[in-house]
Amino acid sequence: MERPQADLLVRGARLLTLAPFRTEQPRVGPAAGDVGAIDDGWVAARDGAILGTGHGDGWQQYELTAGAVERQVAGRVVMPGLVDPHTHLCYAGERWDEFTTRHSGADYLAVLERGGGIHATVRATREASDETLLALTRARLARAVSLGTTTIEIKSGYGLDPDEELRQLRLIARIRTEAAIDVAVTYLALHAMPRGIERRDFLKAAEAMVGTVAAEHLAEAVDGFIEKGVFEPEDARPVMKAAQAAGLAVTMHADQLHDVNAAAFAARLQARSADHLANVSADGMRVLARIGHTVAVLLPGSAFFVGYAPPDARRFLAARVPVAIATDHNPGTSPLEGMPAAIALAVTLCHLTPHEAIVAATINAAHALGRGQRTGALVVGRRADLLILETDDERDLCYRLGAPLVREVYAGGRRVA
Ligand code: NIG
Ligand code: FE
Repeated sequence: MERPQADLLVRGARLLTLAPFRTEQPRVGPAAGDVGAIDDGWVAARDGAILGTGHGDGWQQYELTAGAVERQVAGRVVMPGLVDPHTHLCYAGERWDEFTTRHSGADYLAVLERGGGIHATVRATREASDETLLALTRARLARAVSLGTTTIEIKSGYGLDPDEELRQLRLIARIRTEAAIDVAVTYLALHAMPRGIERRDFLKAAEAMVGTVAAEHLAEAVDGFIEKGVFEPEDARPVMKAAQAAGLAVTMHADQLHDVNAAAFAARLQARSADHLANVSADGMRVLARIGHTVAVLLPGSAFFVGYAPPDARRFLAARVPVAIATDHNPGTSPLEGMPAAIALAVTLCHLTPHEAIVAATINAAHALGRGQRTGALVVGRRADLLILETDDERDLCYRLGAPLVREVYAGGRRVA
């Protein structure tokens, strides 16, 4: 009898399948901390999709194709590729001065108010040519991939005016088309209030832009920075409603530095995710839990670099609100280059266990991007997005902060780093 053919086989692994439970929903409860480990495990793939997983010599059911890649990894950890569901990768100009002089989250908003912060990056990004922006974004993406990211979200947001936002979205769309990994594009419609325009007019223009973005398929989601003195929920409502009417998902920077009721606003809108949440109120948490649709994306890098109290993941888990984590890579609040550092900070600052942090960086992060059926777990039929680590204990991801632990990266069955 003919054996099924595999073109990728990794065996002899400590295999984290992330699939001990049903994978249709983001993980809460005991499932939020179970990585589905199989010792002496194997995973086989064909044409970019997973064919099977198991342990021992069960892999012998497959015949390898002529050019197949076969790895005997001698007990190293093999796990799903990391999913980074929140980044601002497309920008020019670093913010060294702001970084070296800032001491608290309050300073961050004061700098913004004075026309620095996000506005400084907007100026530098507007001045950068298409070629420069593409080169900068490609380089950041390549570094993220080398650190294990196989699915990434990239936001616009450093244009503010519609033409410049469109330019950035088109550049991100080019990056998405050429990238070796899956890129989810988000239109960050409301990032900061530009000078010299009435708030009402700016909000109207953003609402109109949503239609253009949807018609040109430039983004799959719309985001806003819902924060004291930036945009209130009521400012954002028409833009978010327009996004949903156009078939786009919504997501939000919610309650990062102050509680402005953004978590409840996001939950009630059935946002795909509500991100940051360092200052979510008890009421906001209740609404997130009750509606049960929105993933909480925690961004420990921002808390670490800006110096505010990080979100306590135990509150979310106790309320059965699903938790994901992301780098929030951006030049202002979180210059983290890849997910392993976010995983480590999520453990030390947000009090996830190492296994909860791995769930939060894989299957739950995939759900935060509406890709919970496509990646984030080693399950038959999913994309063969996987990593071989340079360790036999996955807790090293949190423990050996900064160590080069990612040895090989496969996206859609192809080696990408
Ligand atoms: O997620 N706080 C709003 N947006 C980003 C920071 C953007 C910036 O400072 O350039 C964030 O923290
Ligand atoms: Fe952000």
